[in-house]
Amino acid sequence: MKGIILAGGAGTRLHPMTKVVSKQLLPVYDKPMIYYPLTTLMLAGIKDILLISTPQDLQNFQTLLGDGSDIGINISYLEQPDPGGLAQAYTLGADFVDNQPSALILGDNIFHGHGLSALMGHAQRHADGASVFAYRVRDASRYGVVSFDAADKVQSLEEKPANPRSNWAVTGLYFYDGKAPEYAANLQPSARGELEITDLNKKYLEAGNLRVEKMGRGFAWLDTGTPNSLSSAGEFIKTLANRQGAQIGSPEETAFHMDFIDAAQLAACAKGMENSDYGKYLISIANEAS
Ligand code: DAU
Repeated sequence: MKGIILAGGAGTRLHPMTKVVSKQLLPVYDKPMIYYPLTTLMLAGIKDILLISTPQDLQNFQTLLGDGSDIGINISYLEQPDPGGLAQAYTLGADFVDNQPSALILGDNIFHGHGLSALMGHAQRHADGASVFAYRVRDASRYGVVSFDAADKVQSLEEKPANPRSNWAVTGLYFYDGKAPEYAANLQPSARGELEITDLNKKYLEAGNLRVEKMGRGFAWLDTGTPNSLSSAGEFIKTLANRQGAQIGSPEETAFHMDFIDAAQLAACAKGMENSDYGKYLISIANEAS
């Protein structure tokens, strides 16, 4: 399965923080934001990843992550000339996807919870259709919103409705079959001029091929859209990481646990980072294993 990380956009709600630095490169506690969604895709066993960002920011992601070979994966890069909407991941990324199943994750979405791999594994088992996740939130009007009938069947999907029909937001993690580029190519821009991911999901809904899995309260889906929520996300990661003495959202450690790399390769990843707690942590994991 292929993976796409969409990490563009102007990040205007975080100005001036994002005037020079891409939102998805801002720190969430001790590491760049992009590490978290990258780790999520890796936890789904995905090794072939396309990162899409703005012409100004793409080089910085490349400098940070390289071609992925040090962590046993393959990362390629593509420019999104203008922020024309999330579904552009599939018009721009059609050649990369090559009619194969794929996962799309937004570069500012942070997921954490026991059972995340299993949940994603469940979504990947279906050869046909799309799988998305619903998460209960207080302020659903800021998101794509899904409503269910009494039998938990999907009733409606709406993007940022003024009066949401439910409290279930659709998260920024999507699993699609090989038809996503074809559906995306036939979308019309919305009133705000974007190719909406919700409209792509509606195509699957209309075809009777959209699964929506509820993410229970044991999962954290963190928001990073405003200075307050970005800071809270950092505090959440800090609290858990310090309490447990374990990293959350480390691509290097995940590569090791997923058997993409061995202990020697993990230790090599820490080169140049020996002065930071993050680097020391990677070395300790590699040492424990060898
Ligand atoms: O986070 C989940 C939500 O993400 C979903 O519930 C919504 O249905 C979906 O539309 C999206 O809503 P947002 O308001 O968060 O979308 P936003 O325009 O902020 O874009 C999300 C991320 O994707 C953000 O980091 C910027 C990036 N992006 C956005 C656009 C429009 C791109 O890389 N390219 C784009 O063209």
